[in-house]
Amino acid sequence: MSDLYRFIAEMPKAELHLHIEGTLEPELMMELAQRNNVILPYDDVDEIRAAYQFSCLQDFLDVYYLGMSVLITERDFFDLTWAYLEKVHGQHVAHVEIFFDPQGHTERGVSFDTALGGITSALERGEKELGISSKLIMCFLRHLSEEAAFETLKHGCRCKESIFGVGLDSSEAGHPPSKFARVYREARQEGFTPVAHAGEEGPAAYVEQALDVLKIERIDHGNHALDDPLLVQRIANSGMAMTVCPLSNLRLGVIDDMSQHPLKRMLDAGICATVNSDDPSYFGGYVNENYLAVQAALGLDANDITALAKNSFLGSFMTEGAKATALERLEGYCQGFQLPEN
Ligand code: ADE
Ligand code: ZN
Repeated sequence: MSDLYRFIAEMPKAELHLHIEGTLEPELMMELAQRNNVILPYDDVDEIRAAYQFSCLQDFLDVYYLGMSVLITERDFFDLTWAYLEKVHGQHVAHVEIFFDPQGHTERGVSFDTALGGITSALERGEKELGISSKLIMCFLRHLSEEAAFETLKHGCRCKESIFGVGLDSSEAGHPPSKFARVYREARQEGFTPVAHAGEEGPAAYVEQALDVLKIERIDHGNHALDDPLLVQRIANSGMAMTVCPLSNLRLGVIDDMSQHPLKRMLDAGICATVNSDDPSYFGGYVNENYLAVQAALGLDANDITALAKNSFLGSFMTEGAKATALERLEGYCQGFQLPEN
């Protein structure tokens, strides 16, 4: 194992862009299908893995919504979330900000409370037993109506003690942020912290709209913001974080090759860019594999890697005190490590 590899693998870090339903590994999918008598169009885990060939976001979403059909009981959501936490505990993740898609469950008759109950029990246990702190963000599915999003927000308002923020995900093209302007206004009034996927497949104008209309506090993906130099300046000047997902971008055709990934350009432009896994089971890697992939393709050095880990805490919604503690730990780690020569 090279020094830089070990430096990445053992570095304390936060993950800020992670769909819990996207951590469903084929083995657990098969197990839950059997447990719940759900018929899948796959005979075994190899067939599931073989289906993970995507040429765009919608290709992936079709498989992702099918996969989550095995999640029925609170225990299923617990098992899913616990498996993710155990996995990233081994990757030295100290803090996670997790998305869930309530409408992916309520639409098929699984209650909001069933999903939320299982996820929050695992997150609480993760904090106690693994020392991983967390925040939960509920996403609105942007291909569904404003009315359906309001319905979801109503559920969220009953559960404010467990839900920190609101997000926007699913099919981006043709579903601009402005479609959810009123939902976000009410969500902000109710005290939820707003974020949104923007500029993954959609244009820079969608990123701008998410900032101006939804008044988001963090940009999820944001790749296409780079098409607009003035917007890049604005994002850099604001210090707002961008949650970038390299392996996701590659697997969904947002980039053709990892060597074209804009992460280094984002950092060079002064953007608080972070590295995340999005849907690790579907895209071939958890957060460490994402760091390793961009490091190798872009030739990132130890200073770039340290900046990215620092950004993961700076860009988080941790309290200022918790951020300071995490950053101190990170600094101690870097000082204690024989940093690879650049
Ligand atoms: N839902 C899960 N992963 C997503 C992604 N990368 N983009 C939009 N919606 C998603
Ligand atoms: Zn995402």
